[in-house]
Amino acid sequence: MNGSASPGESSSAAGSSQPARHHWFEPLADFVGPAYLRYSFTKGTEQEAAFLVDALGLGPGARVLDVGCGPGRHAHALAGHGCRVVGLDIAERFVSLAAAEAPSSAVFVRADARAVPVRANAFDAVVSLCQGGFGLPPDPAAPDDGLILAEMASALRPGGRLALTAFSSYFMVRHLEETDDFDAATGVNHELAPVKDAIGEQRDFDLWTACYTSRELRLFANQAGLKVLGLWSVTPGRYEQRAPDLDHPELLLIAEHVAS
Ligand SMILES: C[S@@+](CC[C@H](N)C(=O)[O-])C[C@H]1O[C@@H](n2cnc3c(N)ncnc32)[C@H](O)[C@@H]1O
Repeated sequence: MNGSASPGESSSAAGSSQPARHHWFEPLADFVGPAYLRYSFTKGTEQEAAFLVDALGLGPGARVLDVGCGPGRHAHALAGHGCRVVGLDIAERFVSLAAAEAPSSAVFVRADARAVPVRANAFDAVVSLCQGGFGLPPDPAAPDDGLILAEMASALRPGGRLALTAFSSYFMVRHLEETDDFDAATGVNHELAPVKDAIGEQRDFDLWTACYTSRELRLFANQAGLKVLGLWSVTPGRYEQRAPDLDHPELLLIAEHVAS
């Protein structure tokens, strides 16, 4: 598959890793396919990538891992900024789409964010955006987000930087819609979301989104050996350094892997 490979940073481990486990997102990815990129929240990719290049200090040739890369929109954009990117996603359909459109400096692999098949310390930066694994619990009763963050931290070289977005609990509760079913005990929101495919056919899919407060993200980051450099309230397509508030849907965490 073009652009799908086992690059240096993803190591021999890509070949020897366990196959990714099943995730409820996969049937959604199979159905929506390239129509994912028609959704409005995907339209600000270039702004997001440019912001991240600055926030993560990415120079030419920087090695970046995109966890839960979807159809590869950030991976492609970061490659356009001169980065060498490995994208991983549990949904084969999205990995194929990402690989089909890939520039030569971006490669893609099907893998599970709970067991990232890369060498430790291999990357200058790791990103996980728009709930790319972190925040999409395979088992809503037992989110694996701590494990996913630890996997991402381990892929970073000392001094390397991480960017992840998580859905804001503050926003979720303040702007709860009729279709949302927010579980205050777990912080996970469930909705039955109408999704359209490339020919306009519509199906409903169950979506579970784990939501976070700023405090939880700071604690999680510290537990994973990451020093928080920034924690901001953002909207897709408008990443900026805005102090956490109650009225923007996502929290953007920028953190640095502290040498142990
Ligand atoms: C909402 S999409 C975001 C995709 C992309 N980061 C973006 O910004 O468009 C969530 C992605 O996370 C992937 N994902 C969810 N859980 C995952 C896991 N445990 N391991 C790898 N990928 C996962 C899904 O397959 C999906 O492609």
